[in-house]
Amino acid sequence: MGDECYSHFTYGNNKPFSVASLPDSKNHVIIIGSMSKTFAMTGWRLGYTLAPAELVTATVKLQSQSTSNPTSIAQYAALAAMTGPMDSVPAMLAEYARRRRRIVDGLNAIPGIECGEPGGAFYVFPNISARLGTGPNALAKDCSELATLLLEKAHVALVPGAAFGAPGYLRLSYATSIERIEEGCVASRSFSAAPLPRNFGARARFHVCRSNDDNFIASGDRYAYVVFRRRAPLAVASRRKLNLAAGRHTRS
Ligand SMILES: Cc1ncc(COP(=O)(O)O)c(C=O)c1O
Repeated sequence: MGDECYSHFTYGNNKPFSVASLPDSKNHVIIIGSMSKTFAMTGWRLGYTLAPAELVTATVKLQSQSTSNPTSIAQYAALAAMTGPMDSVPAMLAEYARRRRRIVDGLNAIPGIECGEPGGAFYVFPNISARLGTGPNALAKDCSELATLLLEKAHVALVPGAAFGAPGYLRLSYATSIERIEEGCVASRSFSAAPLPRNFGARARFHVCRSNDDNFIASGDRYAYVVFRRRAPLAVASRRKLNLAAGRHTRS
């Protein structure tokens, strides 16, 4: 099965490869595509399949019993998109190339981040491993923690590379305006230049505590953050533990 939903979005000399181009493959492959990317119809929930006829018949049977169907409005919009001049596609591709330049440059300007240029689609996948761990330049212990901190502290939403099997990376989409890309890069850069967030160590300490004390888990991350930011963390923590043991713990 080949997912070709980005086949119109390749830059420069990069050309998409289709398994259906292999000799004698057509009876053995299923190609899927989507209107979301090529025609910027995200949310219209419309895609298509190219497959051997008997498989398409079976797919239609299965789908008609298990999903609802797209509205006639969405279907007419898709028809217009596919039978029209498709001139929005090169226009969007040129715009994505501009955004790609901006996000790649913006991320590479952050010390310790290496971002290559993607050959297609609209995602970058910077290597941030130099800023992870426990060393003096570390922003977080791993990519998931960094993704959470960037969301909470810099209001930048992205996906940790671990979700794609690449824990030293982050994935960012540039399917957004140049202004928002700039804003995100500036916020990420300020975040990475600032001293570690005040609760960073507290959180790390909380995790140590967490593994030793099951009762404490019940009080939750937010609660521990309050406890450990106090001046006398151990005293406060043990008082809370006593309260928990006596069943007098309340969430605050
Ligand atoms: C590789 C790939 N395939 C398929 C899809 C699904 O597209 P949609 O459900 O919007 O048609 C996406 C959406 O992000 C995607 O990235």
